[in-house]
Amino acid sequence: MQRILELELMEDVDQVIAYAQADFEKPHNDFLQRLKTFVNEPTFNGKALDLGCGSGDISRRFASAFPFSKIDAVDGSKPMIDYALNSIDPVLQLRLNFIHGKLPDTVLPESSYDIIFSNSLLHHLPNPQVLWQLIKKCSAPGTRIVVMDLLRPVSKKMAKTLVEMYAIDEPKILQRDFYNSLLAAFSLEEIDKQLAFAELPLAIEQVSDRHVFLSGIAN
Ligand SMILES: C[S@@+](CC[C@H](N)C(=O)[O-])C[C@H]1O[C@@H](n2cnc3c(N)ncnc32)[C@H](O)[C@@H]1O
Repeated sequence: MQRILELELMEDVDQVIAYAQADFEKPHNDFLQRLKTFVNEPTFNGKALDLGCGSGDISRRFASAFPFSKIDAVDGSKPMIDYALNSIDPVLQLRLNFIHGKLPDTVLPESSYDIIFSNSLLHHLPNPQVLWQLIKKCSAPGTRIVVMDLLRPVSKKMAKTLVEMYAIDEPKILQRDFYNSLLAAFSLEEIDKQLAFAELPLAIEQVSDRHVFLSGIAN
């Protein structure tokens, strides 16, 4: 099945509320557990960058797990950033800098980061090199890079089955977005080629029937 683009930014307020209030406990917790194995230092006190942070759930989890870290978290959707600012514990927000800006045009506060992570941004981008080139630009030797995204199923029928399997109890708007996201996602082979083109040394691992996890250290 060919990739079918979805709207890049999630700016519709109902869509943002549905996304922000959805039950992402398992995938987001899985992401953080994998990221923790990769960081492997509870006292990590570096600077983190969350690309396409949405309503901030992963940044929030990262800030809680690494109490000495500071995070710049960027999203091109104002309603997403507003949701994060209005819902996340103000004490955590002392270390969380939410930035409204579309990538790659936004100027980031740091020239490089100790860790860069991104969950579910890649499939939103018409041009995937926006993510990979930005990661390269914001890395220094030793920067840890952790990315998770959806994988495109082989058919629309399979995409519908995945929606029924994992989002049947979610609001219709979220089911629609999940379906569109599956159709917009990349295959393992496409991601492999993107990384080779970008010369980014990331390991690629399929971690579920719908998720790919990429990790590595910049050189
Ligand atoms: C599926 S959400 C993921 C949000 C968050 N990372 C999470 O895991 O909950 C994808 C987010 O990427 C944002 N996005 C898409 N293209 C973007 C771009 N070029 N620059 C910044 N944000 C972008 C969307 O607005 C949306 O909030």
